[in-house]
Amino acid sequence: MTQQKRVFITGGASGLGRALALRHARAGWRVCIADLNDARGESVRQELLSAGAPDAVYHHADVTREQDLQAVADDLTQRWGGLDVLINNAGVAQAGAIEDVTLSDWQWIIDINLLGVVRGCKIFTPIFKRQGSGHIVNIASMAGLLDVPRMASYNVTKAAVVALTGTLEQELMEHGIHVSVVCPSFFQTNLEETMRASDPGLKKMMSKLLASGKLSAEDVAERIFQGVARQDVHILPHAAGERLWLAKRYLPHSFYSRMFQRSVVRMKPRSQR
Ligand SMILES: NC(=O)c1ccc[n+]([C@@H]2O[C@H](COP(=O)([O-])OP(=O)(O)OC[C@H]3O[C@@H](n4cnc5c(N)ncnc54)[C@H](O)[C@@H]3O)[C@@H](O)[C@H]2O)c1
Repeated sequence: MTQQKRVFITGGASGLGRALALRHARAGWRVCIADLNDARGESVRQELLSAGAPDAVYHHADVTREQDLQAVADDLTQRWGGLDVLINNAGVAQAGAIEDVTLSDWQWIIDINLLGVVRGCKIFTPIFKRQGSGHIVNIASMAGLLDVPRMASYNVTKAAVVALTGTLEQELMEHGIHVSVVCPSFFQTNLEETMRASDPGLKKMMSKLLASGKLSAEDVAERIFQGVARQDVHILPHAAGERLWLAKRYLPHSFYSRMFQRSVVRMKPRSQR
C-alpha cells in the first residue's frame, strides 16, 4: 500500500484553504487545517472525512501566534510522524490610498500575510530537514508581482512572500525541500468579510472584483494541486495575470506602465475616475 500523504493548510476553514483541503481529501491525503473560525473549521473537517480523507484534523491556530503553529507542528509530528506539504494560505486584504492607510492597518496585514507565512516556514522547516523532504507552498497573489494602485499594504506583503519563497528555494533545495509560490488574480471567497478599506467605495469595488473572478476557488485549488505535483516554483492560476507578469518582465517599462494603467482604471471607484 502506498503511504498516505499529509498536508497542513492554514486558513483552511474558508475559500481557497477549504477548496485545497477538499482537493487533497479527494486524493486520499490526510489533511489538517487551522483557522480562527472554529464553527467553519469543524464543518470543513466533517466535509473532509466525507470527501475521503483518511484523517482530518482541525486546530484553532492564529498565524500571528508562533506558539499556536508550534502546537500544530508538535501534534502532527506525534499523530502522523511528519508532514509532506505545508500550505501557508491564511490571509487578509486591505485597500486604501497611501495617505489614508493607518500604520495600525499596515502592522495588522504584515503580521498576518507576511509574518504568518514566515512563522509557518520557520516552524515546519526543521521537520522537513529531519525528513530530508517536504514542500512549502506559500499563497501570495498577482498583487505581489504587479503593483495595483490603492493596495500598497496588500501588495507589499504579497511581494515579500514572493521574495521569501524565492530565498527558500535557494536555501532549502540542498535539503530536498521544494517550494512553490502561488499568485492568483481575483476569485470569489469570503475574503471580503475580514477586508479593511480606508474608503467604503474601495471596499465595494474590491467586493465586485472578487465576484467577477473568472476562476472559482475550486479551479484555483486544482491548478495549485497540479502545480505542486509538478514541483512548479511559480504557480500563476490565471492566464491573464500571467500575461501581464510576462509583459512587466519583458516589455520596456514605460510601455508596460501605460498598458497597466489602462487595465487598472476599472479598479478605481467611479467617483475617482
Ligand atoms: N480571493 C482572492 O481573490 C485572492 C486572490 C489572490 C490571493 N488570495 C489569497 O488567498 C488566501 C486565502 O484567502 P481567501 O480568498 O480564501 O479568503 P477567505 O477569507 O475566504 O479565507 C481566509 C481564511 O484565513 C483565515 N484567517 C485570517 N486570519 C487568520 C489568522 N490570523 N490565523 C489563522 N487564520 C486566519 C480566515 O478565518 C479565513 O478562514 C489569502 O492569502 C489571500 O490573500 C486571494
